[in-house]
Amino acid sequence: MCDQINFVDLDPQGFLENYWQKKPLLIKNGFAYLREVLEPEELAGLSCEQGVESRLILEKGGVKPWEVRHGPFEEDDFTTLPQDSWTLLVQGVEQWIPEVYQLLESFRFVPNWRVDDVMVSYAPDGGSVGAHVDQYDVFLIQGFGQREWRIGKEPLKEELIIPGLDVKILQEFNDYEALHLDLGDVLYLPPGIAHHGIAKGRSMTYSVGFRAPHNKELAGHFADHVLLHGRREVMYRDPDLELQESSGEMNQASLDRLFREVQATLGDRDLFNDFVGRYMTLPKYDHKPEPQDPTCLDDLRDDDVLEPFLGARMLYQKTHKLVLYINGEPFPVEMEALPVVKALCDSKQAFLWGELKSAALRCNGLGLLQDLVKEGWLLVADPTEDDGSRKES
Ligand SMILES: [Fe+2]
Repeated sequence: MCDQINFVDLDPQGFLENYWQKKPLLIKNGFAYLREVLEPEELAGLSCEQGVESRLILEKGGVKPWEVRHGPFEEDDFTTLPQDSWTLLVQGVEQWIPEVYQLLESFRFVPNWRVDDVMVSYAPDGGSVGAHVDQYDVFLIQGFGQREWRIGKEPLKEELIIPGLDVKILQEFNDYEALHLDLGDVLYLPPGIAHHGIAKGRSMTYSVGFRAPHNKELAGHFADHVLLHGRREVMYRDPDLELQESSGEMNQASLDRLFREVQATLGDRDLFNDFVGRYMTLPKYDHKPEPQDPTCLDDLRDDDVLEPFLGARMLYQKTHKLVLYINGEPFPVEMEALPVVKALCDSKQAFLWGELKSAALRCNGLGLLQDLVKEGWLLVADPTEDDGSRKES
């Protein structure tokens, strides 16, 4: 049986110890405010925007079962849909809707760099994307409506999928437990647990998805980074070459020399840290901020508000030096500016200029703030807008 707790009793440390990457957890009564955050029509509108990744999955009524259509869509794409048995999925919604971004604040007990995005899906009664398995952790949060989630009792050992479909659907999914999610309930699933969510009436789900780099993918991209940025340049040398009995053999000594060179080249830890900082902050979508005039900071009052750009992926590394990474670019900063860098990266909350400025003045971080404002990573909120000030595009 899947464990169940109330959202108010969610203990980050206990969650990480007992559930994260281990087993599912049903967390009841979490996010009632989602009832009013996004209407299906607004989600459909977002899926019509250029630069927003979206899909429609039609279990029935398409040109074949489980047909996938890719956005951006047009209004007609929705008016011609069948009555039911379809799902609209929109990725990266947190970049556009601050209230959706706000969901991430509840999951900060997992480091930000592990977060992928918030996908929002809408389905009429019976809508589903089929029984499947993912290799990523996810918190499935029920928005308005209800959904039945069928989840595997054990991690799936072998993924047998129905051939020839646009989506990966399991051939068989019988050994499951059925869970009923209402508004605000959250289902955490670790990788490898098969699941099947079926809308009960009109239903909206917010999926906070995480990412985990694949070892080969990471190694391949690091090798590219070494080619571009590696400082070590050594040609093969073998002054200790000994006469070989067979000139056709590449012998152990040669293999060792070559392997040592490659190890030394790939073993540059500073180079690796820099690579992974850039790589893990590469933006998923081409959603860039507008440059701004940094002198705007001179005119701010203490109660003015600054907000990070929602499309920014930020992290910092604090090793023997401090480096801030934003969307694939490093910003080396003095170690003393750590409090400001930490505040910016820990949570994309709104900052009162008075507080941010005093923190920056205490740690010589004002120059950094000016640079971030100049590039548009930090925005001055428009006091005339209630909630739309971060929907810059
Ligand atoms: Fe899934």
